[in-house]
Amino acid sequence: MAYKYIYNLVLNQEPGTLILDKDKIERFIPGQDKKAPAEENALDAAGCHLMPSLIDVHVHLREPGFEYKEDISSGLAAAASGGFGRVMAMANTEPVNDNAVTTRFMLAQAEKAHPLGPFVHPVGALTRGLQGRELAPLAELAWAGCKAFSNDGIGVMDNELFRRAVEYSSDLKVLVIDHCEDHYLSSGGVVNEGRISNYLGLKGIPDIAESLQVSRDILLAAYLDTPIHLAHISCEASVELIYQAKQKSIPISAETCPHYLLWDENLVKNYNTMAKVNPPLRTRSDVLALRQAVNERVIDIVATDHAPHADFEKEVPFAQAPNGISGLDTALSLCLGLVDRNILKLEDLSRLMALAPARIFDLPACEFIRGQSADFILMDLKQDWTVDPDTMVSRGKNTPCLGEKLKGKVMAHFLNGIPVINRFS
Ligand code: DOR
Ligand code: ZN
Repeated sequence: MAYKYIYNLVLNQEPGTLILDKDKIERFIPGQDKKAPAEENALDAAGCHLMPSLIDVHVHLREPGFEYKEDISSGLAAAASGGFGRVMAMANTEPVNDNAVTTRFMLAQAEKAHPLGPFVHPVGALTRGLQGRELAPLAELAWAGCKAFSNDGIGVMDNELFRRAVEYSSDLKVLVIDHCEDHYLSSGGVVNEGRISNYLGLKGIPDIAESLQVSRDILLAAYLDTPIHLAHISCEASVELIYQAKQKSIPISAETCPHYLLWDENLVKNYNTMAKVNPPLRTRSDVLALRQAVNERVIDIVATDHAPHADFEKEVPFAQAPNGISGLDTALSLCLGLVDRNILKLEDLSRLMALAPARIFDLPACEFIRGQSADFILMDLKQDWTVDPDTMVSRGKNTPCLGEKLKGKVMAHFLNGIPVINRFS
């Protein structure tokens, strides 16, 4: 069903009606209008909030190779349901996405399963096999459709190689996303280093394993005058470095994830493998610093680092469990919970989860301006839902908020004017 009028909605606190011109935005007419326009192609948005369709710059869709955890079809279904119209899929698949054949395969799988979207943007491996020893064929990957390059999952320790990677990527006009982790410092660690790692008797990962690489990347971005994007920032030490870099106009951008904004290391106290993630959940003071950083634009983006795993993989002793939290289903509701507690502002969510990702990675996002693609979501901010294996669309049910009641539900999701989710009907 193609709609022309979506009435009884709210955009930036203002009630109004959105008028579409097929796949494009025509205009937003402010003013309370609870009555349906005479035309029949009208949708009653029932007081829902209008937001741009979200962009997640950091997901793991697991295909090819680990389809038992997730595949492109199930991952994009979770994205649609969670409000994400575009996702950037990391390269730690099997085979690794370090070649054009794999990139094209991912794009073809997405097109086959979800021709109307959500859309996948593959992230190419920075180094062959993610081994950190030699560069992947970056030009080939860019031509095949990779939107960024990253060694996500395994940082690049070789500074010379990393420098070349940033230079070549910049020639190709493709941004590098760095997984900031010094392997020597993090080696064998499974939780944040500190009080909790001592208490549990588990090897810790110090925050300096992250911030040291953040400082390398800042120095390199300044030296080369070339942008670098920093993945999943988890600690106050990194935030301080990024703040100083931005003061000096060094071209650095950064993301954090809902789990770092919400939860701290105490969540792993009972050896809860659902809260095992890399980088690890840090201290309360890190959480507070990250909240401030997203509010003050020190951190640009909230991305999920959606990392689905099978139940049997998480149901093992803590030290052996894989890292990762399944995030696409819950990210928006978890962030709306922060809005509810006055920690974030609703307008800032559009910036953090759609507009900034679009600007930094050169993707389209809807600002409800005439002629733009009609890519948006309608959010019922009051509706509760319980996170459980049945309500989660992703194949990965691994999240520490399993069983929790969250507020805020995506009622409809439009891409190019067509509803890919419509829970009104
Ligand atoms: O927790 C994580 N899971 N961190 C990563 O860097 C990789 C990811 C995964 O692929 O499961
Ligand atoms: Zn990741």
